Amino acid sequence: MLFKQQALLRQKLFVLGSLAIGSLLYLVARVGSLDRLQPLCPIDGRFGPRGQEEIPLRALQFKRGLLHEFRKGNATKEQIRLHNLVQQLPKAIIIGVRKGGTRALLEMLNLHPAVVKASQEIHFFDNDENYAKGIEWYRKKMPFSYPHQITIEKSPAYFITEEVPERIYKMNSSIKLLIIVREPTTRAISDYTQVLEGKERKNKTYYKFEKLAIDPNTCEVNTKYKAVRTSIYTKHLERWLKYFPIEQFHIVDGDRLITEPLPELQLVEKFLNLPPRISQYNLYFNATRGFYCLRFNIVFNKCLAGSKGRIHPEVDTSVITKLRRFFHPFNQKFYQITGRTFNWP
Ligand code: A3P
Repeated sequence: MLFKQQALLRQKLFVLGSLAIGSLLYLVARVGSLDRLQPLCPIDGRFGPRGQEEIPLRALQFKRGLLHEFRKGNATKEQIRLHNLVQQLPKAIIIGVRKGGTRALLEMLNLHPAVVKASQEIHFFDNDENYAKGIEWYRKKMPFSYPHQITIEKSPAYFITEEVPERIYKMNSSIKLLIIVREPTTRAISDYTQVLEGKERKNKTYYKFEKLAIDPNTCEVNTKYKAVRTSIYTKHLERWLKYFPIEQFHIVDGDRLITEPLPELQLVEKFLNLPPRISQYNLYFNATRGFYCLRFNIVFNKCLAGSKGRIHPEVDTSVITKLRRFFHPFNQKFYQITGRTFNWP
């Protein structure tokens, strides 16, 4: 009899235990790792009115699910009003540099519960036609977010386009500007690889990198070649500094973002006055891709598209040396201005 009662008790305990574990797993999957770790998200006063600095847990759930629907335009006006969602102008912009890792940076920052990314490159400030549509047009391109969240957009063409600094300044003179850079020669080759792939897709032929990067008449670096010009970071930055103080910029090491993303992201969190929420859990190395991928929670993770992380063509070593020598003095100036030194050759 006693034995039977004990067996029954054990059975009940087993069922209750399984139910508890099941519910826990369900909650983890639903709410997401970030949300589970830190449901409260105080943000610096600059990003939201004081006293309302906590992002409700629901906000985080929406970020993963419903916000997406809102973004796709599937929400009714009533739902938007009910949830107090707004389309906010960006508080920070990733202004470049093309092929520096701008997409990876945006997607990784979007892991933060207080950040909402504008998925598409909007090209508001660099495209005259878009700019003529006015700031309201730009705002309407932004994703829905809670008032305490910050919107971030990225359009790498901003960094190199003459008119952009003044235009952004006119919108918000205290905006935070992110620039992600890679070793300039690698960046130029990456830039070339993207264009080359575009040509190949259209069954067109294209010049070799060496032919574009080196002027055949002088045998010197061809400074007319856009991929070379874009990598002279200091020249572009100097134009921006006519409008914004250096403190408003944060330089991200794009090479380190590839190999060791977390410390780079933590520096950005600090710069944006966001509480540290992105953790190693959110980033896992995918050996097949050869890159870090993103883990939002135990059910949702993603890697960047295949267009990120292309195999570069082999480039003649003498051309690489020539380019590195060419970029060297500009790099030194860049380190000096930004206060961030890189081990670029
Ligand atoms: P490559 O294609 O030359 O490797 P952008 O988004 O500005 O176009 O930059 C693309 C670059 O982002 C890629 O250049 C790639 O090296 C880099 N990158 C950084 N982190 C990445 C990641 N986690 N997954 C894929 N690419 C990443």
